[in-house]
Amino acid sequence: MQIDILTLHPDLLQSPFNCSIVNRAKEKGLVQINLHNLHDFSPNKWRKADDYPFGGGAGMVMMIEPIDKCLTELKKQRGYDELIYLSPDGELFDQKLANELSLKRNLCFICGHYKGVDERVRQHLITREISIGDYVLTGGELAAAVVVDSIVRLIPGAISDETSALTDSFQDGLVSPPVYTRPAEYNGWKVPDILLSGHRQKIDEWRHEQSLERTKQRRPELFNQNNQE
Ligand code: ADE
Repeated sequence: MQIDILTLHPDLLQSPFNCSIVNRAKEKGLVQINLHNLHDFSPNKWRKADDYPFGGGAGMVMMIEPIDKCLTELKKQRGYDELIYLSPDGELFDQKLANELSLKRNLCFICGHYKGVDERVRQHLITREISIGDYVLTGGELAAAVVVDSIVRLIPGAISDETSALTDSFQDGLVSPPVYTRPAEYNGWKVPDILLSGHRQKIDEWRHEQSLERTKQRRPELFNQNNQE
C-alpha cells in the first residue's frame, strides 16, 4: 500500500510512523508512507501556502494551488482509491472504516490547518472527509496519524500473530476481554483461575462472556446496536 500525506507540518508526522508495528510494516515493504510538505508547492517565493479568507474574518485558509499542484505531481505516479481530507466535520472514523481502507492500494490524506482549506479543495479534489471525533485539533496531522496507524496494523502480515488484529476490540462489535500476564499473583491480586487452567475452549467461552459483559456495561449503545442479547 502507498500512503501519501499532504501537510504543512511534516515534522509532526515523523515519529508516529517510525515506531512499533507501523515501522515494521514499512520495513517489511507492506506499506510506504510518503510525507509531502505543501510549502514546497507554494506559488510564491515565501513558500506561503495559506492566505486571508475572502469576505474577512479571523484565521487563515489553506490555498488550493499548493494542494492541487502536489496532487497533480502525485497522480502522475499513481491513481488513488481514496483522497481523504481530515476534518472535524467529516464522517466519524471507526473500526469498520479502518477495515475498509486497509484493503485499498493507494490512499492520500490531506491535513487541514488554521481555518481549514479553500472549499474548492473539498468540492473538486477529494473523495471523502474523515473526522476522528467531535473535538477540534490544531490540524489534521494527529488525525492522519491515528487513521493511518489503525489501517496499517490491519494489513495482512503487519502483526506477526495474525489472529491478534482480528481479536481487537470492535472487530466483532465488542470491546476486548481483560488480559493478564505473569506473575499469577501480585500483592494478593490474583489472575482468574480459568486462565491458568489450560482448557482452551473454556478460556474462549470465558473471554467471550467477559467481552459481552464489558460491552454491556461500558458501551451499551454498541451492545444494543449489535443485538448481542
Ligand atoms: N482536524 C481538526 N480536528 C480534527 C478532527 N477531530 N478529526 C479530523 N481532522 C481534524
